[in-house]
Amino acid sequence: SAAAPPPSPSRRPPYIPNRIPDPNYVRIFDTTLRDGEQSPGATMTSKEKLDIARQLAKLGVDVIEAGFPTSSKDDFEAVKAIALEVGNAVDAHGYVPVVCGLSRCNEKDIRTAWEAVRYAKRPRIHTFIATSGIHMEHKLKMSKEKVLDIARRMVAFARSLGCDDVEFSPEDAGRSEREFLYEVLGEVIKAGATTLNIPDTVGYTIPEEFGKLIADIKANTPGIENVIISTHCQNDLGLSTANTIAGACAGARQVEVTINGIGERAGNASLEEVVMALKCRGQHVMGGLYTGINTHHIVMTSIMVEEYSGLHVQPHKAIVGANAFAHESGIHQKTLQQGRLPNASILLVAAQNDGMLKHPSTYEIISPEDIGLERSNEAGIVLGKLSGRHALKNKLHERVADADIRALVSDEVFQPTVVWKLHDLQVTCGTLGLSTATVKLIG
Ligand code: KIV
Repeated sequence: SAAAPPPSPSRRPPYIPNRIPDPNYVRIFDTTLRDGEQSPGATMTSKEKLDIARQLAKLGVDVIEAGFPTSSKDDFEAVKAIALEVGNAVDAHGYVPVVCGLSRCNEKDIRTAWEAVRYAKRPRIHTFIATSGIHMEHKLKMSKEKVLDIARRMVAFARSLGCDDVEFSPEDAGRSEREFLYEVLGEVIKAGATTLNIPDTVGYTIPEEFGKLIADIKANTPGIENVIISTHCQNDLGLSTANTIAGACAGARQVEVTINGIGERAGNASLEEVVMALKCRGQHVMGGLYTGINTHHIVMTSIMVEEYSGLHVQPHKAIVGANAFAHESGIHQKTLQQGRLPNASILLVAAQNDGMLKHPSTYEIISPEDIGLERSNEAGIVLGKLSGRHALKNKLHERVADADIRALVSDEVFQPTVVWKLHDLQVTCGTLGLSTATVKLIG
């Protein structure tokens, strides 16, 4: 595999709200339970949210945005339960995730968010107000001066409650006027913000533009050296992962992502894509950027979120889609035994095209094992019309004795339910002892 080895737990720098002691470390802020849950139809129960939060901690995310506490009593209770349990489970290396609650820029929301997260060892309040002309005029119906005043006062209010980790987001930053953005960000830094999150709320920017936005904020905002810059990229143009990576390359050291990329409308930047891009290419083309994620837990986390949110992962989804390691003729199967997550077994039916047989790196830039898949030839093989003679012969040799091969290719012996033709060979599913469920793309 071309991917770098996972960072050892001791490589994760100590947590200081407004500073990252290692300049190459990128914090992973997971918002599956907040932005992700805002996907239409993705409502989860409090128990499911707690399960997911435990899994996110196993995965090693730096920050869990556990919800929007003022939005409902259930959400408040879920955030509080996560803060109490997951937010206090410090591991042997001193790691415990930050537990964060979202709030609009008003005292009631901020107080409620604080009441929910304050039980965690590392509580964070995340407050936001829109700064784009369109949002200020049509949604907030507020002048720039008013927005600036509220942002400044509400960050100071959050700090006054005793919270030393306050994140501020200028909503729709991607379409906000630059000079105003710098002014608002400079003022909230003075008021005590520790992370400045830059949302491309409507997924409007392209990577070059978003990277430049982060670089310009870094160059022009007074006091920016004292805080962390973060990205939050929606996926309306399918550019959320690319924009997030561009933001990190331009100096952002926190990225906001969700498992399977779930989120409002077209979703959010997906954790697995961003993390694997950094793992795979961070050393080579991003100046050594890395995260603290234990990527071996990616597939299990993806399955859990798929199950609980009811939002299915498309087969061709990068990293966790069923065809992500298919290479023309293979498929990995994610099987939940009796639908129960703790017993889940994950199988990869390895790809067997000719190049793969010679060496996996011909088609695999990521090893399936790196994200928690097991290779298993026991489970069967998928043969496609592009599989090739070599793959088929190999599989036949694996399954049956040489002597049997001639007999096995005869239609008379086997039910030709599905027939795959390869020159003079005719092979049926039954021949290979496969269930039809594992056979795809029969030519
Ligand atoms: O998309 C957005 O702007 C948000 C903010 C609250 C960060 O979700």
